[in-house]
Amino acid sequence: MKLVSVDKLIPGMVVSENVYTLDDRLVAPKDTVLTQKDIDRIRSFSLYNIFVEEEMKAVPEDKEASGTTDLEPSYSERLRNTQEFIIFKQHIEDCAEELEESFRMLANESIPLDVDKLTEPVYHLFVEAGGTAGIFDMLHNLRDNSDAVFMHSLNVSLISNTLATWMRLPEDKIQVATAAGLLHDIGKMLIPSYLLNKDKQLTDYEQKAMNEHVLKGYELVKDKDIDVHIKNTILMHHEMRDGSGFPLHLKNEKIDEISSIVTIANVYDNLTARRAHRDPICPFAVIEHFEKSGLEKYEPNAIMTFMGNIVNTFIANRVMLNTGQVGEIIFINPDHLSKPTIKCGDEFIDLAKKRGLSIVSVI
Ligand SMILES: [Fe+2]
Repeated sequence: MKLVSVDKLIPGMVVSENVYTLDDRLVAPKDTVLTQKDIDRIRSFSLYNIFVEEEMKAVPEDKEASGTTDLEPSYSERLRNTQEFIIFKQHIEDCAEELEESFRMLANESIPLDVDKLTEPVYHLFVEAGGTAGIFDMLHNLRDNSDAVFMHSLNVSLISNTLATWMRLPEDKIQVATAAGLLHDIGKMLIPSYLLNKDKQLTDYEQKAMNEHVLKGYELVKDKDIDVHIKNTILMHHEMRDGSGFPLHLKNEKIDEISSIVTIANVYDNLTARRAHRDPICPFAVIEHFEKSGLEKYEPNAIMTFMGNIVNTFIANRVMLNTGQVGEIIFINPDHLSKPTIKCGDEFIDLAKKRGLSIVSVI
């Protein structure tokens, strides 16, 4: 392994450690065999040096010369082949299994509620993902997995931690947000499993029964010796600032500040997850939804921070447009976060200026 100035990079060099931008976005995962295109991208982020392997690898001629994106693996495809991703995927699945067991025992009160012990594996997952910077890269590429309550709880915990970090909250609040994200749906352990596992959309009656998980969860923890924000989150994570949520139709500051963070993490994870009755919703459609109704429904600082940061995690990702065109996100427009500029071949498409064009998937 050696440190090389980005000016001296040449195609065929192999990246030996994940390359991050100065604001913590992953630009090139470990083991990437650099093409000229990768090098141009790394240079565009004003980086000085990166670590590469001593040995070089051949870059196929056609891959280099074509300049098209459809011949080479996308950023996501390369990431999914890295050792880090494979290990992370295995570990989060193991953690989900362990969490299932703990939640079951908590629900029938056969073990005490030890928040620190429960959240410990979440911090290990962070370390494996390369910290806050890498976590969304990992989560975005786990989207085809089954999203049972336990995997969802881990995701929401990781996202809540990241959002609290982006908001620059003090460390103790970041920890509470992490624990509240993990435990927010504990009440689902007290909902009949046929409702949780139903592979069709719930009827109104069933949805009402499902919504009771917030009250059942709160009942389960209300007398326990845990942080009050965690209790409030279990009760309030479906409340909306405009009063349209449930169970208490709370408005604005009546909603717990940590619960406001978990609500955003919960909505984002739910919408971008595959469900039995629908495909995952493209993150850019979710961001567009947040742009339209975010300020009415969510805590303004939290939602603005979330949107501003989440879009940056997609820079350099390959996306498909509703026209079927495929390109790479190269620039985020701060005034239209869901409408970045895409490079398709030699063409630059500014989605903010092209009415009717939108991103349908990240590939
Ligand atoms: Fe919930």
